[in-house]
Amino acid sequence: MSTLVHDLDWPQIDVDRIGAGPDTRDVVADLAAKGWLIKTPFGYLLTRHEDCVAVLKDKRWYQASRLLAEMNQITDERYLKRQQRPSILSMEGDEHQRLRRLVAGAFTPRAADRLRPFMREVINGLIDPFAATGRCDFVTDVCEPYPIPIICELLGAPNEDWEQFSRWATAIFQIFNDDLADHVDEVVDAGEALDAYVLDLIDNRRDDPRDDLLGDLIAAEEAGDRLSNDELIMLVEAVILAGTDTTRNQLACALAVFTDHPDQWAELAERPELAARATEESLRYLGAIRGTGRFAAEDIEYRGVLFPAGTLVFPSFVGANHDADLFDDPARFDITADRGGVGHLTLGFGLHYCLGANLARAELQEALIICARRMPNLRLDGEIVWKPDGFGIWGPASLPLAFDPVEGGA
Ligand code: HEM
Repeated sequence: MSTLVHDLDWPQIDVDRIGAGPDTRDVVADLAAKGWLIKTPFGYLLTRHEDCVAVLKDKRWYQASRLLAEMNQITDERYLKRQQRPSILSMEGDEHQRLRRLVAGAFTPRAADRLRPFMREVINGLIDPFAATGRCDFVTDVCEPYPIPIICELLGAPNEDWEQFSRWATAIFQIFNDDLADHVDEVVDAGEALDAYVLDLIDNRRDDPRDDLLGDLIAAEEAGDRLSNDELIMLVEAVILAGTDTTRNQLACALAVFTDHPDQWAELAERPELAARATEESLRYLGAIRGTGRFAAEDIEYRGVLFPAGTLVFPSFVGANHDADLFDDPARFDITADRGGVGHLTLGFGLHYCLGANLARAELQEALIICARRMPNLRLDGEIVWKPDGFGIWGPASLPLAFDPVEGGA
């Protein structure tokens, strides 16, 4: 007979103490040493790789973003109505698997590779204006704009729309902030504007088929099954939302880490073939997504403990990515390390594993290669300002950098 999770004497923390900052790994490592499960005011934090993976691949644990309104005590009807619409992240079981199967072909490494030349063009274009000065705020000058033209290109949306996309994405992502209740109207207005925009985009493209992601999605078909119009809208919105703030914060996190490791930055410039490992190590060492949430869709027994239906757990990616049982010397950042094929969890794992992982990797790799080459002797030019804690996507709000200008530019 398993013991009810709520009756056991787990180590406890006030959630504020987990934080999001670069030192979170020390806090979570201390917690992991105390136990594999830590009680928080919201639910239970999973501190170790093995348990995070077990939960993320178990279809009885549902993605918890659908509970955000409840957790934030939102009663606004417009918000609640929108929240009931299915999204890929909130879908589960056969419905979710069907969708993943239908869209898999559109998100392969080859599909991401199509965009690499464009990624290089975008990143070079962003560096050009400040290259000769040897100074920039990397967040404002590079990270904020970088993913948007790529998503526009991916979807065949006009490039001049990127600032609008960016504003909608920023507004909608407030769903992950602790102060969501204060921004409900903005979130809903941005969501409605995005719906109208995406519907228009799809309608136009049905008459004008092209060889890009939106074309692939419209054509996606398996055994006579196709995506409906609502599913297409939902997926395009997921790409716009999940594919922008994530990449930009992750790139800023990576550069922030490299300012502490100038030798590795120089090595990356010398050996661009290290970009894939540098990307994985940056994702592991300082991920823009610090963890996720799941709730038990039914009573679940795990490790001799009974988690009754509704129990919330939070797989900590920070904990998993610094699990000393799996990663040799996890507190060391090393872009040359062979981590033996053990994966970090910053792109998720299992059923909801990041659909855009190949695209995200390509974007980060291309940006790192070009930045390392064009921004040698990288150093901080002021304090890094980190975004506040929360459940959401995290990284530097400001990253003032200096470097030695390179003769001859790109
Ligand atoms: C460095 C950048 C990125 C990071 C760190 C990241 C991280 C993640 C994580 C952790 C999840 C799983 C969440 C969970 O299990 O609760 C996820 C899911 C997802 N990501 Fe990403 N992501 C990134 C970039 C992208 C890009 C570029 C796209 C789109 C092209 C994208 C689209 C998605 C979608 C659609 C899902 C939902 C998948 C599902 O529910 O089946 N992501 N991402």
